[in-house]
Amino acid sequence: MRDASFGRPLSGPVDELQAVQVDQMHDLRSVLQVRDFRRLYSALALSSLGDWLGLLATTALAAALSKSSSAQLYAISGVLLVRLVPALVFGPFAGAFADRFDRRWTMIVSDLVRGGLFVGIVLAQRLDVLIVATFLIETFSLFWIPAKEASVPNLLAPEQLETANQLSLIVTYGSAVPAAALFALLSSLNRALASGIGFFHSNPVDLALYFDAATFFVAAMTVFGLTKISGRSPRANRSASDQPVSLLGSIRVGWVYVWRNKLVRGLVVGILGAFAAGGVVIALSRPYVELLSAGNAAYGLLFGDVFLGLAIGFTVGPRLLADISRRRLFGMCIVGAGACVAIVAVVPNLSLALVFVFVATAFAGVAWVTGYTLLQQEVPNELRGRTFGFVQSMIQVILFLTLAAGPALAGAIGKHRIRLGNGAYVRADGITVVLFVAGLGALAVGVSSFRRMDDRLGVSIVRELLAACHIAAPPPPAPAGFFVAFEGGEGAGKSTQIRLLESALAAAGWDDVVLTHEPGSTTPGSTLRSLLLDPATVLSPRAEALVYAADRAEHVHRVLRPRLAEGAIVLCDRYVDSSLAYQGAGREIPLDALRRVQRLATQGLQPDLTILLDLAPEIGLGRVGANRDRMEAQPLAFHRAVRDGFVALAHRERGRYLVVDATQSPERVAAEVAAEVTRRLERVAGSRHVRRADAAPVLA
Ligand code: TMP
Repeated sequence: MRDASFGRPLSGPVDELQAVQVDQMHDLRSVLQVRDFRRLYSALALSSLGDWLGLLATTALAAALSKSSSAQLYAISGVLLVRLVPALVFGPFAGAFADRFDRRWTMIVSDLVRGGLFVGIVLAQRLDVLIVATFLIETFSLFWIPAKEASVPNLLAPEQLETANQLSLIVTYGSAVPAAALFALLSSLNRALASGIGFFHSNPVDLALYFDAATFFVAAMTVFGLTKISGRSPRANRSASDQPVSLLGSIRVGWVYVWRNKLVRGLVVGILGAFAAGGVVIALSRPYVELLSAGNAAYGLLFGDVFLGLAIGFTVGPRLLADISRRRLFGMCIVGAGACVAIVAVVPNLSLALVFVFVATAFAGVAWVTGYTLLQQEVPNELRGRTFGFVQSMIQVILFLTLAAGPALAGAIGKHRIRLGNGAYVRADGITVVLFVAGLGALAVGVSSFRRMDDRLGVSIVRELLAACHIAAPPPPAPAGFFVAFEGGEGAGKSTQIRLLESALAAAGWDDVVLTHEPGSTTPGSTLRSLLLDPATVLSPRAEALVYAADRAEHVHRVLRPRLAEGAIVLCDRYVDSSLAYQGAGREIPLDALRRVQRLATQGLQPDLTILLDLAPEIGLGRVGANRDRMEAQPLAFHRAVRDGFVALAHRERGRYLVVDATQSPERVAAEVAAEVTRRLERVAGSRHVRRADAAPVLA
């Protein structure tokens, strides 16, 4: 029977939510179908379970090994403190390590050592060993995390990273619940066994610690099977000028990268700002509840509220807000979270506080997933470990500082009331002031990240939000950058000229120049390129045209439009005209039909300037040599028709073309091209967002 709802447009929030769930299941399945990611994910789940179990078991053991109750408290805080120290000392090294050494072995060794240390803790039964081992376990975890974060993008396509991050956050934090249950179960089992078997007498948490060790050993075996993630880049040990660099040198390169790259800096500052505000909220939640004259139950409720908000933010948030640009969404969510914290600071009511804490943490959850995903997508493989190592250790430092400084500051401010007359007053106690300032601080950081990362310049944020809620039509994308396409037959020298133009633009101070090409600049596109150019492929002309168009549609959607929207100067090796010349003039597909397909693929995106490097095919094919791909291997008559096709296109629309005689020396061609491009750039600079450089290139 036909589904009655088939073809009906989505209406109402219920349909919307169902569609979200269907999309989410589809994305989840597609990510979990990748065998290596599934294995890495199982290793993460096991290690996270081990981490939580370890936290419970070691603090319990610390208490059990101490005599008096105050010694117990000192021992517990000693164990917790010792977990924070490695991040301060080794954090930066851990990231550089993940870039310089084999990531798979880094993870395997970290897991084995952590497992071994847990066994050592049980065997020693001494507080000093426990503290040293905890320090070492935390240190090795610190090496494990950037190696894992940097490996994920090597296993998945960029568009799958958001789902992967959602899954990672869910297992990392979600495993706390089964870990707590398991701890309770293992402790009871240990007590039961201790009555009969002497081996279990020594301590009630031994079984939990052995189990914990086992989770790390199994995780190590799981990672052992992952051969694809070694991911170490030879460039990570070298500077931009290809000189070998020391470990300290490579840490410096990582920090310089984070600082100089505008987008990455926006992301890192946003993530750290959000954690700082989060730290203050956690540190002050207990006194805040007292301020509202509520008791322990309210404290428990508030705590549960935080986790619920985060969980909703991680899981459904990114999907519900799917139509908003990720770069904008990140800043917006931090602004939203900051505003809610500021409101919580001043509302004198528990129910309202619960609502705003929930919304704040849901925003924080979305910002977290989005921020991590953007970092993984933006940072190149060879710098990824260092970037994540840097972020991770800074998060720990900031959490540590805010947890310590928040209550101290609130205490220093003390309790005050400002009288307004008529018996009304405003609370101005330390807790309110510090929470309020933390909220405003996060809000300011969010605004700054938003402005730094905005990729829809000229599109109103309100309109985008209304469109995301399906209240208004989507805003038309505003071309902010400048788009140059290079065209020409085989061997015309396009790639050389693009590189020369890039250098000329950099020398003239133009910022954010992007080089790209068709076919094959996206993940699916590279598969299509292999298919199209493989001499063994047999394709009918129309199928060939459609495959080129499919590659273009993906390229426009994933690369060209987003980069142009950010104000980049995009230099593209081949675009629509190649299809009109090769498939139109060469394969004789009617131009009208071809143009319709192009409109579908590009949604009307046209270059600002097309540079045609004109060359007789006899000369061009001579430069290509004997080893030819499927298109180069076409007969000479085909290539002649292609050249005539290009020239005719340029003739029809002279204003948009620069035709250059490609028989000249590369330097002369480059000079002609650079002069025209710079002239046009100067002309549009006032009305577009193309920029002159304000900083040195990233890795210089
Ligand atoms: P190239 O990127 O090395 O120049 O190779 C791409 C080949 O694909 C080249 O022979 C031109 C051909 N081509 C088409 O036939 N139609 C198109 O739309 C594009 C982009 C390329």
